[in-house]
Amino acid sequence: MNICRTRNEWVDCRGQLEGRGSIALIPTMGALHRGHLQLVEQAKAEYDHVVMTIFVNPLQFGEGEDYERYPRDEEGDIEKAREAGVDAIWIPAIQDVYPREPAITVQVGKMSERLCGRHRPGHFDGVATVVMKFLQMVRPDAAYFGKKDGQQLAILKRMCEDFHINVSVVGGETVREEDGLAVSSRNVFLNEEERKEAPFLYEALKQGYERFRTKAETAPLIERTLEEQLAQNLQASIDYVELVTYPSLEPLPENNSDNHLILAAAVRYPQARLIDNIIFKRS
Ligand code: PAJ
Repeated sequence: MNICRTRNEWVDCRGQLEGRGSIALIPTMGALHRGHLQLVEQAKAEYDHVVMTIFVNPLQFGEGEDYERYPRDEEGDIEKAREAGVDAIWIPAIQDVYPREPAITVQVGKMSERLCGRHRPGHFDGVATVVMKFLQMVRPDAAYFGKKDGQQLAILKRMCEDFHINVSVVGGETVREEDGLAVSSRNVFLNEEERKEAPFLYEALKQGYERFRTKAETAPLIERTLEEQLAQNLQASIDYVELVTYPSLEPLPENNSDNHLILAAAVRYPQARLIDNIIFKRS
């Protein structure tokens, strides 16, 4: 596995891949876990070379969020990436990605007004900006993102369409612990009690989905019921529960063209914010 750190090392490495087959990119912030590694496995099956970037992007963290203490484990990550069969890993320093204060950034607009975007102002502008940079610097044929971050996946796919970026944006299924909790780098911040109750987040989403499917309850009713259930069963505070169209992320009655919906929720523990969702076909 080729390990690159500086921009120049990456340019060399990218040069070696030129003309030698297709390239899939997996952007990450490190602290690699099974969720990231499943994206690698999927990409390896579909493309010749798999490139991973590890970069904790300051631009997507708001004030008071966990940028400083975001888990970092470079040596462990390199080992895991190697074992998973990543061909090249690029771990840039901040100045390689942001050589100076950016004058121009990507602004997401309406798709960031709901779900996580509403609770993390500027977050998706930061995500879109850094992913745009990596797409330009890596020039992959495809980029892989997890459905666990469903809003992020929808926004990045739309960004590539709107900017005519010739990259297939591929979504990977959410990887879960045995008890249903979505695997996340931030799960290490949960204490024992929080970790024990946290799988209820996914349980509640599944119940909400069932009620939508079998009883055709309205979105506001499902959202309200789920919020109550989460409040009763979790010590966390609730950021949101929303049922909207996918991937356009609009309220149900306003847009009937998407035949998929997303039921998503985020809860906040003192040391960790957890998100999860179910994306399903409206029948
Ligand atoms: P990060 O949280 O490291 O996640 C990297 C990729 O792994 C994302 O596409 C995310 O959706 C996916 N992922 C995380 N947990 C997953 C799980 N349990 N199952 C499946 N996929 C999972 O998301 C980011 O980094 C950043 O915002 C980034 C896109 C790298 C931009 O900075």
